[in-house]
Amino acid sequence: MSAVHVLNGPNLNLLGRREPAIYGTATLDEIHAILEARCAERGVSLVFRQSNHEGDLVDWIHEAGGAGAPVILNAGALTHTSIALHDAIKGADAFVIEVHLSNVHARESFRSRSYISPAARGVIAGFGPMSYILALEAVFENELRKS
Ligand code: DQA
Repeated sequence: MSAVHVLNGPNLNLLGRREPAIYGTATLDEIHAILEARCAERGVSLVFRQSNHEGDLVDWIHEAGGAGAPVILNAGALTHTSIALHDAIKGADAFVIEVHLSNVHARESFRSRSYISPAARGVIAGFGPMSYILALEAVFENELRKS
C-alpha cells in the first residue's frame, strides 16, 4: 500500500465548533493526529485532506485511485447530492470506505440517501472520530488479507 488517503468534504474544517452536540468537540486536526499516529505505528504514509469544493474531492479520488491507494472518505453533505463523487469512485476504480461522524440514518431523512455508498467498499457511521479509526483498521485488515 503506497499511502492511505483520508479525504474530507465541506464544512468538516469547522469540526470542534460545528454543532458539537452532533459532531462532538474533536477538531479535524485532532482526528488527523490520531490517524497519523496509527499509520506511523504500521509504517504507512497518510495523506489527509479537506476541501469545501466538490472538484477538489473528485481530483483527489482520481489521484488515489490511480495510485491504487485506499481512501477513507467523509464527503460531508456531498454524500447526499454528488453523482460526480459517485462517478469519480467508479471511474477511478478507487477502494473507498465511506465514513460519517454522526449516524446519518438517525437524523433528517435526506441524510439517509448516500450517492457514495453504492460505489464504496463499506460504510462506517455514528462513532464520532472513532468512525475514522475503524475505517483505518478496515483498510489495514484488507491489506493483510491481500498479502
Ligand atoms: C457527516 C454527515 C453529513 O450528513 C453532514 O452533511 C456532514 C457530516 C458526518 O460526518 O456525520 O457534513 O458526513
